[in-house]
Amino acid sequence: MFDSIKDQLKKAKKIAFVTGAGISQESGIPTFRGNDGLWRNYDPMKLATIDAFYDNPKLVWEWYNERRQNIFAAEPNLGHKAIAELENFSEVIVLTQNIDGLHQIAGSSKVLELHGSIVKIKCTVCNYKEEILTEFSDMPPLCKCGNILRPDVVWFGEGLPQDVWEEAIIHANSCDVMIIAGTSLVVSPANTLPIYAKQNNAILIEINPDETNMTEDMDLSIRTTSATALPELVSMFKNN
Ligand code: OAD
Repeated sequence: MFDSIKDQLKKAKKIAFVTGAGISQESGIPTFRGNDGLWRNYDPMKLATIDAFYDNPKLVWEWYNERRQNIFAAEPNLGHKAIAELENFSEVIVLTQNIDGLHQIAGSSKVLELHGSIVKIKCTVCNYKEEILTEFSDMPPLCKCGNILRPDVVWFGEGLPQDVWEEAIIHANSCDVMIIAGTSLVVSPANTLPIYAKQNNAILIEINPDETNMTEDMDLSIRTTSATALPELVSMFKNN
């Protein structure tokens, strides 16, 4: 599968992964786009914006509770595990748009969560943050400052956490190989990370059953699922 660029890959010192919802699809977590995607049945403008939250905090909170339950019941799949295992052979950084924490549970030690985390909540006004690992209240709790707490995720119209994004760019700019797995690459600014990697002449590899709008920029497109492709890729590094 990787024969065409095997020699280049063997020389790679630093590998950056850019991951999206597709990498967790085989763990039972739905993607956003495509036939079974969440955004086919739900309107993101009513569930994933700060205005939607202020308009109907209960609705948004309940939707996140449902997703939390689904995510807490999920386990990392062979794709997440392969990425974690690759740390034994190379420098690896994971730049993920996912909020499910499955890369960390699989054992990846360097993960930048570009869109936040479903286990974290934060105040809509002050700087207060906390983790909710087990209990789901029916309504969003109130902060000590009296304002409403919200999921600590990035919603449409919001910027990424600046420190996380700046670090992500540094890694994208300095990797030798970027492996883009399970993302449609339609959401900005995460979809610009391959461009930063290309500026460093990195090899770009896409793992996705479908084409993306950056397929033409890839050095290699692997048209299968991440739980199938990633273990094979890691075994190639092991056999160096
Ligand atoms: P998308 O749902 O846009 O894209 C998922 C991609 O994964 C698609 O290109 C699928 O073809 C691919 N895919 C599906 N199953 C796969 C599998 N088993 N293995 C590999 N690939 C598979 O999800 P994202 O690109 O992550 O943001 O979406 C980016 C952002 O849009 C999300 O973080 C979220 C969403 O709106 C916010 O909520 C702010």
